[in-house]
Amino acid sequence: MSQNTMRLQSFDLASQDIASVDVESLHGLSLGVEWPHRPADWDFLRKVGRGFVALDEIGRVFSSAMWFPYGADCATIGMVITSPRVQTHGGGRWMMEGILRQCGERRLILNATRAAYSLYRSLGFEPQATVHQCQGYVRPVVPGVTDAVEAISAADLGEVAALDAAAFGADRSHLMARLAETAEIRGLRRGGRLAAYAMRRPFGRGWVVGPVVAESEEDAVQLVAALLVGLDGQFVRLDTRQSGGVLRAFLHAAGLPLHDTVTTMTRGAPLPRVEAGSPGTYALAAHALS
Ligand SMILES: CC(C)(COP(=O)(O)OP(=O)(O)OC[C@H]1O[C@@H](n2cnc3c(N)ncnc32)[C@H](O)[C@@H]1OP(=O)(O)O)[C@@H](O)C(=O)NCCC(=O)NCCS
Repeated sequence: MSQNTMRLQSFDLASQDIASVDVESLHGLSLGVEWPHRPADWDFLRKVGRGFVALDEIGRVFSSAMWFPYGADCATIGMVITSPRVQTHGGGRWMMEGILRQCGERRLILNATRAAYSLYRSLGFEPQATVHQCQGYVRPVVPGVTDAVEAISAADLGEVAALDAAAFGADRSHLMARLAETAEIRGLRRGGRLAAYAMRRPFGRGWVVGPVVAESEEDAVQLVAALLVGLDGQFVRLDTRQSGGVLRAFLHAAGLPLHDTVTTMTRGAPLPRVEAGSPGTYALAAHALS
């Protein structure tokens, strides 16, 4: 070894409940992999999900992994991070094996980055769809919003949750209630029945629009347009599995072009399809929440 180099001794990591650590250490972890989450975003995710972190002997966080249960049968997995300093040493696989033990027999959904894809394949996850992360600074678009779009209040959350379950394939009432604490919600009714809903909440560098559930792309566009009103010049993100069509064209025109993609993968059951005429997911709540 030369005078200018030294070998640092390897160290042991221990797992601990993610609820027990300081949010700033989680924020540091996600900043380290260039994710946009604010401490408030981590706090939100810890309210709606569970998970653990890997710590060294002096309490530094090197890895995280979370899961978000929807009833007894379904869960999403997310916030799987290993600090770049210790990647490719088996930490990600170790964390995932722990999460899978906690998830038990549930059918599982996650959104894989390129770095994580082969890890999830080896754990039995199958690719289902590409998620298009569209984001940017909002520009005013024509046509604007129609009168049909209405504000949805907390009193209507039961209807929102039922529509969401029809699209997602599992009951996310608990998540809907938590999202509604900070979200603006818009809806479209047909014959009095809620036919589409969309939410917008503060996230990361600005705002996220999602979930969006609708029976057609045109309805989804109406709701997204309504939620972009007043945000000219502000940073907005929307994650959709639509590979083209009117929603993507609208997003592009509104200043939210494609930024990156991830792959939705499932284990235990395929992802529900999005088909015009029945409720489908046109925007994700978040990568971690699907
Ligand atoms: C994805 C990530 C969590 C993997 O963590 P890790 O601790 O490096 O994972 P492991 O060392 O357990 O490696 C797991 C497998 O993935 C492979 N792998 C690791 N990094 C990879 C990369 N950048 N590209 C392709 N494969 C990779 C490893 O070779 C390993 O395969 P093997 O077990 O067959 O040898 C880590 O790279 C990371 O935090 N990346 C940034 C954030 C991210 O993308 N998170 C995933 C969200 S879905």
